[in-house]
Amino acid sequence: MLITFEGPEGSGKTTQARLLAEHLRGLGYEVILTREPGGTPVGDQIRQILHDPANAGMYAWTEVFLYTASRAQLVAEVIRPALAAGKLVVCDRFYDSTLAYQGYGRGLDLEVLWQITRIATGGLVPDLTLYLDIQPDEGLTRRLLGGGEWNRLDQETLAFHRRVRAGYLELAGMEPERWVVIDGARPIPEVRREIQAVVESRLDGGD
Ligand code: TMP
Repeated sequence: MLITFEGPEGSGKTTQARLLAEHLRGLGYEVILTREPGGTPVGDQIRQILHDPANAGMYAWTEVFLYTASRAQLVAEVIRPALAAGKLVVCDRFYDSTLAYQGYGRGLDLEVLWQITRIATGGLVPDLTLYLDIQPDEGLTRRLLGGGEWNRLDQETLAFHRRVRAGYLELAGMEPERWVVIDGARPIPEVRREIQAVVESRLDGGD
């Protein structure tokens, strides 16, 4: 089973992905926790280029191809072998981020992005996508106060981040059986409990 986390900046998805992986391991599952961009040595190098605030002049399609290159490597090197071995894979961002950020955020053609995505993933689709929703201004404030990485995308305008969020909600509406929308503005333990309940019900073959 492939479980992906999505969300705007500061939605808490990285923390929740880690907590979910720990919880599932505690239940006896073999879990691979990974992230995009990155998750492989090649991908981590690509991540540095993508997130370096000095690369402010990066062309939008260059950005797409770099994220997609990191994804192709991750799918081939980590995700497909893990799924084939019967492991659970938890991934912090996947191709929906490209649709939300480069598609809805930057205004690139969604159909072309789908085509490029399918080449990189070989058509792999997550079984479950947990979308942690948060208002962009609140998320960016959290991000600033949290003192973590402040990347090139964080520097984008609030309007950009609002388009990303609206895009996510549209994507979630298009595939309601795959996406679960979770209010990420609540305290970490509350969000964690909801995520655990959703995932356990899927693993038990429930809805
Ligand atoms: P994060 O690892 O802190 O979530 O940062 C990843 C950043 O990269 C975030 O700003 C979203 C952005 N991103 C894209 O724009 N497109 C993508 O395809 C992916 C995977 C991430």
